[in-house]
Order: sequence, then C-alpha cells, then structure tokens
Amino acid sequence: MAGVRAVEIRDRIDRMTLKFLGYGRQSIDQSDIDSVVDVLRSDFLTQGPAVERFETALAERVGARHAVAVSSGTAGLHIACLAADIGPGDLGFTAAITFAASSNCLLYSGAEADFVDIDHDALGMNPAALEHALKAVPEVKAIIPVHLAGLANGSAEIRAIAKKRIVIEDAAHAIGGTYSCGRLVGCGAYSDMTVFSFHPVKTITSGEGGAVVTNDADLAQRLQMFRSHGIERDASRFVGDNEREDGQLKPWFYEQQMLGFNYRMTDIQAALGLSQLGKLDRFLERRRAIARRYDDAFSQLPHVHLPQSTPQQRARSGHHLYIATFDFDAIRTTRSAFMTKLRDRGIGTQVHYIPVYRQPYYVERYGIDPAAFPESERYYRGCLSLPFFPGLTDEDVERVIGAVTQTVTRK
Ligand SMILES: Cc1ncc(COP(=O)(O)O)c(C=O)c1O
Repeated sequence: MAGVRAVEIRDRIDRMTLKFLGYGRQSIDQSDIDSVVDVLRSDFLTQGPAVERFETALAERVGARHAVAVSSGTAGLHIACLAADIGPGDLGFTAAITFAASSNCLLYSGAEADFVDIDHDALGMNPAALEHALKAVPEVKAIIPVHLAGLANGSAEIRAIAKKRIVIEDAAHAIGGTYSCGRLVGCGAYSDMTVFSFHPVKTITSGEGGAVVTNDADLAQRLQMFRSHGIERDASRFVGDNEREDGQLKPWFYEQQMLGFNYRMTDIQAALGLSQLGKLDRFLERRRAIARRYDDAFSQLPHVHLPQSTPQQRARSGHHLYIATFDFDAIRTTRSAFMTKLRDRGIGTQVHYIPVYRQPYYVERYGIDPAAFPESERYYRGCLSLPFFPGLTDEDVERVIGAVTQTVTRK
C-alpha cells in the first residue's frame, strides 16, 4: 500500500515539474529578435521597406505575382472579398469546419454566408458536396475553400466546379503546402486570391499578420487600397481633377477613392515575418517528421482515426495542426474528461473547430440544421488537435505519445 502511495506521489511531482505542451507554439530564435530590433532602430515602424521586402519574398516563395501584407488573416479575407466586389445581395460558400473568420469576411462585406460539408478524410470542403450545393443555389458568387490543418483538398475540382465564380482560398493553415499537382499553395493555379495568416500558432508568424497573394494586378491594387483607407497615391490613377497646381502635381496630394480600412502590417511585424519565412522549410521538415512519428504510434491504437495521414497527404500538407479523431464512446470517456486527463499530464489539446453553423451568432442568423452536414458533425464529435510545433523535442513527442496511448487504453 505504502509502495502504491509512493508511486502516486512521484507521479504527481513529475506532473508538477513537467513543462506544459500546448497544441501550437511559435518558434522564435535570436535571428528573429535581431531582425525586429533592427527595425525598431530604423526610421520606419509602420508599413515601410520591411513590408515591401516581406511581400516580395512571400510572393516569390509561394509562386504568386503579388503579395499584399495585412494586419491579420481575417483582414486579408475581408479585403479579398471587397477586392472581388462581393457585397450586399451576394452569397458565398465556405467549409463548415473552419474558424469563423472564413465566413465572417463575407458578412463584413455585406454578403451572406452558407456552408459546405467537408470530406471525411481530407477535412476540406468536399467538391461533390459543393457541386450539389451549387445546383441548389447557383447564384453563389464566391467560394472560400479552407485548407484545414494545412492540407489543400480537391483544389482543381473546386476551381472547375466554381466555373466563373470567385474562389478565395483560406490558406491560413497552409503556407508551404502544395496542391496534389505539386504546385505551391498560393501560386494562383486554382483561385483568384489566397489568404495566409501569421498568427503565432501558425507555421510562421509575424506576431499578428496576414497576406493576400494573387496573380491579378488589378486585384492587387484594390487590395492595397482597401488595406489603407481606400487611398490612392499614384497620380496616374487619380479619378478627380484636383491634383495639379500651377501645372504641376501637388506633391502632398492623395485621393480616397473607396471606403477602406487601416489593415496595414507594421515593419516590426514584417521583419519578424521575413525572418520566419527563411525558416519555413526547416519548420515544415520538423512538423512533417513529428506527424510521421505520431502516425506510426497512433495508427496502432484502437478507436483512433488519423485523417490526412496518407504518405501523399503528409508530403504536401502545410502541417499547421495534427488532428486525430477519437471514438470517445468506445473509449468510455468524454472529450472533456479525455482533455482533462491529458492536461493533468501537461499536454494541451484543442478542438479545431466547432462547426461555424453551430455558433450562436450563426444559429440566430441562419438557423442551419446540423443534419445537413453529416461529415462535419461526425468529425466534430471526435476531433482533437495534439501538441504540434517545431520546438517539440523528440522526448516531448514521446511524452505525448505515451500519455495519449495510456489515456486511450485506460492503463
Ligand atoms: C482557417 C482560418 N482562417 C482565418 C483565420 C484568421 O487568421 P487571423 O487570426 O490571422 O486573423 C484563422 C485563424 O486562426 C484560421 O484558422
């Protein structure tokens, strides 16, 4: 009895001294800090030369002609809708499993949103479900597929099914990922615009931040205006006739031509983003290695399903999240109890995401019947994101595997 108690006490002490592993975390090193400090000592803090350098490097990295850096992924989605002329009277579709920003952006623009069920394994918008939904509601103007956890799913099919409609990829999770054809997410092969997020849990971070990439010069110019109050400073694009004095261009003149916002990224953020972008390949390699180790371990467990885990999917995902789905009934637990057990062992988990149509705001606005989304509902019942970031050591990874294994097998 005394021996059992001693083991319990040792376990408790172990747990108290364990470092807590959240589901995601930024990886910042001295070179990131130095880049930010350089900007702090420079002439520009807000949008300036570092933003331009970041945009050029980002466009080059993802194979797009233009990149417009903004203050968040949400801001990027909003101005992407505005640049595409989405507004009152319009309707857009996004995936049912996503962060609310993917549909909120339509509402910010004055349009309405509806949802499309996900593919049970790839977890993105299901192209067949999209086709079906468009038959019922052909007047849809915009489609916003979401590369959940980093995997671009069915992009070529979605582009073809969308026909002439606007396609804006929500690639908040997917920088560095590729489509099944091998081209980089963001290259514009299957959409009009692609939006990235650089929130700290994402693959690379700028603190807060985002970007819209496109190959369309007109869209890029509209995006630049919407991020900064709708202001135009290039005299060749002025629409009024007030820009000259004594036959010369007024050097201080600008025009507000539309209603825009202050969605600018700062040079401080861009310096961090640029420094992080240089590490993207290294981050992805480590994420991929952790995913493969998790796959090996968790595929042995009962009542656990691993979506997005074929070698082909692993090879091309942007790997923002590692999501497993659990049959909590079969494990004879609840998700809350399961999460608490892991938390007690210093392991953070999270649900990505509650279907957006279940959020009270959307229930009130649209009253959508969850039964219309069987795959999203099934996924939502079992999904859990496990610790997944490049800073996890091999020991951390084994600790997660041990804790999840014991919690599933109740040993
Ligand atoms: C799928 C998805 N879209 C959009 C966003 C919004 O990005 P941000 O937090 O940079 O505004 C997020 C952020 O979590 C996201 O997960």
